[in-house]
Amino acid sequence: MKAFRGEILSVPDDPAVVGTEAIRHFDDGLLVVEDGLVLACGPHRALSEKFADVPTEKLDGLIVPGFVDAHVHYPQIGSIASHGEQLMQWLERHIFPAEKAFADRAHADSIAAFFLDELLRHGTTSALVFATVHPGSIDALFEAALQRDMRIVSGKVLMDLGPEGLRDTVSTGRADTEALIARWRGRGRLGYAVTPRFVPTSSEEQLADAGALLTEHPDVLMHTHLSENPGEIEFVASRFPDAADYLDVYDRFGLVGPRSVFAHCVHMSDRALSRVAEAGSGIAFCPTSNMFLGSGLFDLARADRHGVRIAIGTDIGAGTSLSVLHTLGEAYKICQLKGASLDPFRALHLATAGGARVMGIGDRVGALLPGQEADFILLDENSTPLLARRCSGASLHDRLFALQVLGDDRSIAATYLRGAKVHR
Ligand code: GUN
Ligand code: ZN
Repeated sequence: MKAFRGEILSVPDDPAVVGTEAIRHFDDGLLVVEDGLVLACGPHRALSEKFADVPTEKLDGLIVPGFVDAHVHYPQIGSIASHGEQLMQWLERHIFPAEKAFADRAHADSIAAFFLDELLRHGTTSALVFATVHPGSIDALFEAALQRDMRIVSGKVLMDLGPEGLRDTVSTGRADTEALIARWRGRGRLGYAVTPRFVPTSSEEQLADAGALLTEHPDVLMHTHLSENPGEIEFVASRFPDAADYLDVYDRFGLVGPRSVFAHCVHMSDRALSRVAEAGSGIAFCPTSNMFLGSGLFDLARADRHGVRIAIGTDIGAGTSLSVLHTLGEAYKICQLKGASLDPFRALHLATAGGARVMGIGDRVGALLPGQEADFILLDENSTPLLARRCSGASLHDRLFALQVLGDDRSIAATYLRGAKVHR
């Protein structure tokens, strides 16, 4: 058993739904960890007597749950900041060539290791990750995640209409998916997601098979892209002229349910948003990516009116930072452009417990509640002179907002997985 003493903040519930009750803040708090799980978390004053004999580390900074990145592509980490195109051309020109290299297992191993170390350095402890069409890209990622004891959910990409050299078939896609689920089920803190890339790269047969895989394996997620960029949406509409909208195509194949996570959803009808809400699916809001590719401005307030579950995604390589703090700062600006104000406590919720819930791991991580895994980070508001100046003497709300707007990897003083320090 061990304990950490310091300022602790977590936001287990959505402040937009339950109000300030959602915020758990202890100025001088104690986080007690046993066997990697939170045993107690509360004011030091209330817990110090009971845990007087437990070795206690004093942490200087703000302790919050580790970040959850609910949409990110690990094979694209080296393609970040590729200039000049919108989604469909960007994929052809920059991304598909980079993903072809993952046919080589050694390449996949080295990128997976770099990617996961970067996640930890940025304070991200759980992620829903796109790999490539190659099953080896999953073995590489899961082996590296197992070594680091991270909570990673991923799955081989299904794309039987992909470009030459980056294409599976309905039957190899199924066989590889089945083999990966069997090989990795129950190991470490890993989870599987059936991952059709998006409608343009899968046949109707493959989309139907992805729906069947989802039904046959009640413990897996479904992860894909939806209604991101105008060019993509036009293409889907021309291929499925009788579908109500893009979401309806996924719906026809049994891909819209409580275990489905849709990245982007920038251009959604009220019908589609209400259907996502009714199905209990989640949306990954990817602000930096949506701006970088010129896709559009996600309307968080409108999604809220439908009661949709929201998570935050960095969406590297179309996203421009692996920092969830920075991504939340950009989310704030997009909400401003849409006439809404993203509260910093809510932002933290979306990037921790909210994201975990969308990923189906809300009972395990995200809120530092007793029984949850002790994945947490230490935020340093003195990490730059400007941040220190802005935070000095400021309220908790203002300090958190300053971290959201000015913070990045420099503000992550340390990252802990199940109570063990894994970064700095
Ligand atoms: N839609 C299909 N594939 C991708 C991808 O790799 N990145 C983004 N941002 N959108 C996609
Ligand atoms: Zn993506």
